[in-house]
Amino acid sequence: MSAVPVQVPFQLPDGAPDLRAALLDWYDIHRRRLAWRPAADEARPDPYRVWLSEIMLQQTTTPHATPYFEAFTRRWPTVSDLAAAPDADVMAAWAGLGYYARARNLLACARAVAGGHGGVFPDTEAGLLALPGVGAYTAAAVAAIAFGRPANVVDGNVERIMARLFAVETPLPAARPELKRLAGVLVADHRPGDWAQALMDLGATVCRPGNPLCDRCPLTAWCAAFQSGQPGCWPLKTKKADRPRRHGVVWVLRDDRGRVALVRRPDRGLLGGMMGLPTSDWSAAPVEAAPPAPADWRVAGAIDHVFTHFALTLEVRAGEGTGDFVWTPVDEALAALPTVFRKALERGLA
Ligand code: ADE
Repeated sequence: MSAVPVQVPFQLPDGAPDLRAALLDWYDIHRRRLAWRPAADEARPDPYRVWLSEIMLQQTTTPHATPYFEAFTRRWPTVSDLAAAPDADVMAAWAGLGYYARARNLLACARAVAGGHGGVFPDTEAGLLALPGVGAYTAAAVAAIAFGRPANVVDGNVERIMARLFAVETPLPAARPELKRLAGVLVADHRPGDWAQALMDLGATVCRPGNPLCDRCPLTAWCAAFQSGQPGCWPLKTKKADRPRRHGVVWVLRDDRGRVALVRRPDRGLLGGMMGLPTSDWSAAPVEAAPPAPADWRVAGAIDHVFTHFALTLEVRAGEGTGDFVWTPVDEALAALPTVFRKALERGLA
């Protein structure tokens, strides 16, 4: 059958076998050699290794996960070995992968498999889903890759590929259920683990988020985004709400030796434990705040700074005085302060 471009999803089941064959053929040649993948001619992968890699890969990128995967499997070659490991050893080995809750779940899952299942992973999506720390994605990935089940494995890569293939006009995140349904249309009994990983590899190396490499893609004949001439426009995304803005006052107080008054910030909270200038609370509306010391305060303008979760406008006030502060030479302060306070200090000195 010739490769008929498919522009609308409901035509797909006709074209799907060709599309699937094209991607699996591509995968046979271009599959990435990854530590958790057995060579193409070896038996089915070890479920323990598949599960471990999937948990690690939810946390980080392939290159970052690889040395951790190798260290874990060298030290704990089976799920029962991992289950028997002291918590502290596993937590220490996980350090650098972040999110300790995930390491705790990893151990809980290993112990559930070793204790409740005789060291053998359940071989269905439902059985896997019942394990601690195993969510819908991981259950589908392990069922497909380790057990050859035709599970619909949908991560961000797969969402992006589906959004482009079908030029889905609904923006993310609202499009998720639709993208999952479209991905499901392409799942089949033939080579389900390779299918899942072929989509992952295509998304990581060709159908990349920015600047997709369509000239290397085996699916352009079916891809509505490619045919539009603007494949990088998909997936559509809902514009993020603007960050909220907070307001405050910051004081640049200098002594008669030209040093500047700094304070150590409380350990908890934003910029916790770092040196800062004395500042008011940062609130939704501008408020009048009591200065940290008596001085002939003058307004020296304002600075803006953007944090991850909010934007901040600080009115800068400058003056000369004394008080119980960490008095610091200006050049040292400029070098040591977090950016928001460095900006404020520069403004206060201007
Ligand atoms: N990302 C998550 N799981 C993966 C896998 N099995 N292969 C490649 N990339 C992945």
